[in-house]
Amino acid sequence: MIRVETSAELREWTAARRRAGDTVGLVPTMGYLHEGHLSLVREAKRRGHAVVMSIFVNPLQFGPNEDYDRYPRDLDRDRALAERVGVDLLFTPSVEEMYPEPLQVTLRVGSWADRLCGASRPGHFDGVVTVVAKLFHLVGPDEAFFGEKDFQQLRIVQRMVRDLNFPVAVVGCPTVREEDGLAMSSRNQYLNPEERRIASALPRALRAAQERAAEGERRSRTIIDQVEQQLRTAGLVIDYVSIVGEEDLEPVETIDRPCRLLAAVYVGKTRLIDNIALGPEKER
Ligand code: PAJ
Repeated sequence: MIRVETSAELREWTAARRRAGDTVGLVPTMGYLHEGHLSLVREAKRRGHAVVMSIFVNPLQFGPNEDYDRYPRDLDRDRALAERVGVDLLFTPSVEEMYPEPLQVTLRVGSWADRLCGASRPGHFDGVVTVVAKLFHLVGPDEAFFGEKDFQQLRIVQRMVRDLNFPVAVVGCPTVREEDGLAMSSRNQYLNPEERRIASALPRALRAAQERAAEGERRSRTIIDQVEQQLRTAGLVIDYVSIVGEEDLEPVETIDRPCRLLAAVYVGKTRLIDNIALGPEKER
């Protein structure tokens, strides 16, 4: 595995791989790698790409009161994990490399950025699409791999690619979970043992909702009420629980098409998100 810190070296390497006839797969991350991140690399490798992973904690997507400064970082550990899973090039730029001067031109997401996670994180998705657009331009991947764990992010990036004609296919990959169902996340390490125990109520509530929907419950309100009650009883503080169309992220009242139940909760100071598919199987 090669590690580079500059855009110039990155471009040189991808250009050489292309000349050699390789396709390129990109896995953007903020590091502190776990099995969720590694599953994206495995999928990229399975599809035969030369795999670029980026590790960059992007200041643009953190709000002023968010955890940018204390976001977990461990480059030595990440480097070993990336190498072991078969990353070909690891791109670890500094903030100065990515943003040598304050940006004058950025991307802005429309109404999709005002709902769900966007409602409590103003500017977050603008920061995400701006850095992802830069990475797409720097790497020029054939395919880029994103987790369904961040479902709203996945849909927004797919929409950016469509709206702005980026020549890349965005591949969504299933959420990787701990044994008790908790979605893997770099932020899980903020949880103390008691919080970690309580956190498992989130995936449990989502699975119960999925079962109710599978048994025939079609009313979103009924399912959301039950999920909220389950989360509160467990000691979680709710940011939102919402059911939206799988493709258009529009709130639905009746689950008569493929939908997603999405939720964000606080356990102590830590914000956790998760989501699950509801309703008729999507034709893939
Ligand atoms: P980060 O949170 O590090 O996640 C990087 C990628 O890993 C995202 O596509 C995310 O959805 C995926 N991922 C995280 N946990 C996962 C899990 N348990 N199962 C499957 N995939 C998982 O998301 C970001 O970074 C940033 O916003 C980024 C896209 C890199 C832009 O800065």
